[in-house]
Amino acid sequence: MDGEGDSTPIITARSLGKMYGPHMALEDVNLEIPPGAVGVLGPNGAGKSTLFKCLLGLITTTSGEGTVLGYDIRTEGDKIRSRIGYMPEYDALDPDLSAIDQVRYAGELVGMNPAHATRRAHEVLQYVGLKEQRYRKIETYSTGMKQAAKLACALVHDPDVLICDEPTNGLDQKAREFMLQTLRRTVSDGNRSVLMSSHVMDDVQEVCERIVMIHKGRIVVQRRIEDLARQIEREIEISVWGGASRMQQELETRGFKVRRLGRVLRVDRVDEGTTKEVLEAAVSANVQVRQMREYEPDLEDIFLLIMERLGAEVRGTSDLMTTAHTGGDRDE
Ligand SMILES: Nc1ncnc2c1ncn2[C@@H]1O[C@H](COP(=O)(O)OP(=O)(O)O)[C@@H](O)[C@H]1O
Ligand SMILES: [Mg+2]
Repeated sequence: MDGEGDSTPIITARSLGKMYGPHMALEDVNLEIPPGAVGVLGPNGAGKSTLFKCLLGLITTTSGEGTVLGYDIRTEGDKIRSRIGYMPEYDALDPDLSAIDQVRYAGELVGMNPAHATRRAHEVLQYVGLKEQRYRKIETYSTGMKQAAKLACALVHDPDVLICDEPTNGLDQKAREFMLQTLRRTVSDGNRSVLMSSHVMDDVQEVCERIVMIHKGRIVVQRRIEDLARQIEREIEISVWGGASRMQQELETRGFKVRRLGRVLRVDRVDEGTTKEVLEAAVSANVQVRQMREYEPDLEDIFLLIMERLGAEVRGTSDLMTTAHTGGDRDE
């Protein structure tokens, strides 16, 4: 539908469900993820880590089915894990080991022979910026270095797909930048696919071209970021010197839906004539317009808007996923 029909998906899921006892952590998850960089977004508890563990075959699903690189997540977890690099959310490192031993060990666990694992361990530790510190025990590492070591473990067997669960969690600005840059490089130069989760929009925006949004165990959006931004109604932002409530009234009388933040008003951009009509409204309301501009939503705005809609009315989310969005649901 969005011009990517030619690439075979690396990950699929059909009606995937996961219960922890009576608790529904994933419900009716349907996915089709093409190669590239994909960000999995959602608030804490949304189900991001659970989804990753299901895809890796690390936990059993309750219902539905899924594939990763064509392998069945229910029965071929071993094959999946040998082709996928997984950077888990929590510290999976042994503090007593040096990074070089830890990474070599990770390689051997996925079936590499010791010589090959050792060679690769040196390579990937350099790649993640730990060349100088590779013989040091992990217990002496900072959070940033530990995250980098986890990434090295995930990359040791040169996987086609990298799954990173909150890779920037707990990192300071510098370490975060480096992590994001390394992930970006893995996609652009290494031509690998990256699936990364985060609850921070900026991280995802810096690395990914697509997002999957999870809310309470359900996928609410899966799209290219570019298309998503285009789908959100453009708004015109109007700053006035005074008389904002008079202006609001006048605009509403004229049929606009107005969102007001103090002296700043926003209306949906209906068409090219909207600007003219806003100016006419200002004259009628006897209000001076200070500034008027088209407001471009960033990913954060989009996320909040979608969450707001979901929170406001728990209903079908098809309106968030439709490709052709012509504003037909604007007045609902
Ligand atoms: N092992 C578990 N046992 C019971 N409940 C769990 C377990 N792991 C996660 N959950 C619950 O499942 C939901 C999704 O958790 P999780 O996948 O960790 O979300 P996220 O990674 O998006 O923060 C949460 O409500 C969480 O409390
Ligand atoms: Mg998590």
